[in-house]
Amino acid sequence: MNAIYARNLTKTYGGGANALEKLDLEVEEGRVFGFLGPNGAGKTTTVKLLTGLLAPTEGECAVLGRSPQREPEEVHRACGVMTETARLYSHLSGLENLVFYATLYGMKKQEATERGSGLLKKLGIFSARDKKAGAYSTGMLQRLSLARALVARPRVLFLDEPTSGLDPESAQTVNRLIAEQAAEGATVFLCTHQLRYAQDLCDEYGIIDHGHLLARGSLAAMSREIGLKTYAGVRVGASCRPEGFEAHGGWWRTVLEEEEAMPHILQRLVQSGVPVYEAQIVRPTLEDVYFSYIKREEDAE
Ligand SMILES: Nc1ncnc2c1ncn2[C@@H]1O[C@H](COP(=O)(O)OP(=O)(O)OP(=O)(O)O)[C@@H](O)[C@H]1O
Ligand SMILES: [Mg+2]
Repeated sequence: MNAIYARNLTKTYGGGANALEKLDLEVEEGRVFGFLGPNGAGKTTTVKLLTGLLAPTEGECAVLGRSPQREPEEVHRACGVMTETARLYSHLSGLENLVFYATLYGMKKQEATERGSGLLKKLGIFSARDKKAGAYSTGMLQRLSLARALVARPRVLFLDEPTSGLDPESAQTVNRLIAEQAAEGATVFLCTHQLRYAQDLCDEYGIIDHGHLLARGSLAAMSREIGLKTYAGVRVGASCRPEGFEAHGGWWRTVLEEEEAMPHILQRLVQSGVPVYEAQIVRPTLEDVYFSYIKREEDAE
């Protein structure tokens, strides 16, 4: 079953241009889907539609086969949501917030306390468990909000920029925890601007701009589609110019059609007497792919 489904999903906020236009999307269960795009692209709008916080102007969507608009309770029960605007109770402590939330979703109090404590430990805020959430710093609140999203073991996780504003160590902790949830089988819908982290975490992506989905697929598939190449790169003795290679950023490189060709290329270089100091396969990064799609869109305008 698709964990997430959208067909012709469109949202217009009171009279303006479409914030989201005719989005078609499917995310299979168990996948980690990275939703990428510039500010104002329509990412948060999509999350709000998928979690029932907004109703579509046109089109439809479903989470685990249920409509967030018509069956909000079933959808909420299966989802953990973390958005910029955390809905936490400031007069409850960090742990109380988690236990309150988990028991609301049917977890027994003892299990909720254990699960909540475990998450607070993993997120490095266990020592603040008895402090009122109102007295948490922004970064602590953000981590508490993630813990809240995870506490009831949701099958689908919607995370809207979970690491924005976190210090590097906390961001790493959060990313590790997201990876852990994915390894345990949760589907993750992750909106982020942090492309390097996204590349480590996600198995597939959507790139959106001005409400239009520009691309969709794995990094390799999108690279192929946008025409980005993989290269064999080498660093060789100072006076050498390896034949068939071009100079690029202190390295020499040549297009690698298939990765299986790499050993042959190196063998040929060595046999022709070129001293090879370093060699690597240089694949397009998520950053390369992202900028290529955004640029193509800008050029087309
Ligand atoms: N409540 C609202 N009322 C009117 N327009 C809105 C509202 N919320 C969002 N928009 C508009 O919808 C468009 C998409 O916004 P959205 O918040 O979905 O973008 P985003 O991709 O999440 O951006 P960011 O990366 O900045 O979080 C923007 O043009 C924004 O101005
Ligand atoms: Mg947003």
